[in-house]
Amino acid sequence: LVPKGEIRNNLESGLPILIYDFDGREEEVDMVFYAGAVSWKTINILRKDAGGLICYVTGYTEAKKLGLTFMTEIVKEKYPQLYKRPPYGDEPAFALWVNHVSTRTGINDEDRAKTINKLHETVSTIKKDENEARQKFYNEFYAPGHVPILISRGLKNRKGHTELTSSLLEYIGLEISGVIAEMLGDGKSLPKDKALLYAKNNGFLFIEGKEIVMEVMK
Ligand code: 5RP
Ligand code: CA
Ligand code: ZN
Repeated sequence: LVPKGEIRNNLESGLPILIYDFDGREEEVDMVFYAGAVSWKTINILRKDAGGLICYVTGYTEAKKLGLTFMTEIVKEKYPQLYKRPPYGDEPAFALWVNHVSTRTGINDEDRAKTINKLHETVSTIKKDENEARQKFYNEFYAPGHVPILISRGLKNRKGHTELTSSLLEYIGLEISGVIAEMLGDGKSLPKDKALLYAKNNGFLFIEGKEIVMEVMK
């Protein structure tokens, strides 16, 4: 794995890291940013260069403290017929989709950056005052909105980009507060070798899920 400091410097200065999950899982590369360093330009890069679904990632503890639950719990209760697993087997990490109250339609680059900046602010408030953080979440957001929140179950329980991102952020000592989107190609997900070339051409770090697992779980 690349040295911690290098990963942290990149993320804190608003640069992305590309993460490939695993052979035999999704076999996708996600573009990952630190939510504490997101501007509208980040959203612009995510939708133009990555192209997948732009999601906010946080940890299990953080989500629980904000009163968030997995969407699968809601589906199991309200639409049990729709409760099925994707082909690679994992339960989805999706929770609610939210917008910050100060957004207009919620979708343009500035609006999504605003929602993400405020989610980051909310998650960062937890360590100061849990009740204040939860109140801030309830007062300042509405659902459904345009930013899906993904909750990490921890790498021991699930090995998705959600957990790879949350573990990496924790490992380098940042808040568990990330923004991710899949890199897409023409018709299919962007093949790993093309994603590697994109990383090389742009000077972005490329990390494999197995490197994160080896380092974080050792
Ligand atoms: C949301 C997804 C993506 O696969 C994303 O990478 C997060 O999910 P996972 O943790 O399953 O990899 O489903 O667009
Ligand atoms: Ca997925
Ligand atoms: Zn994924």
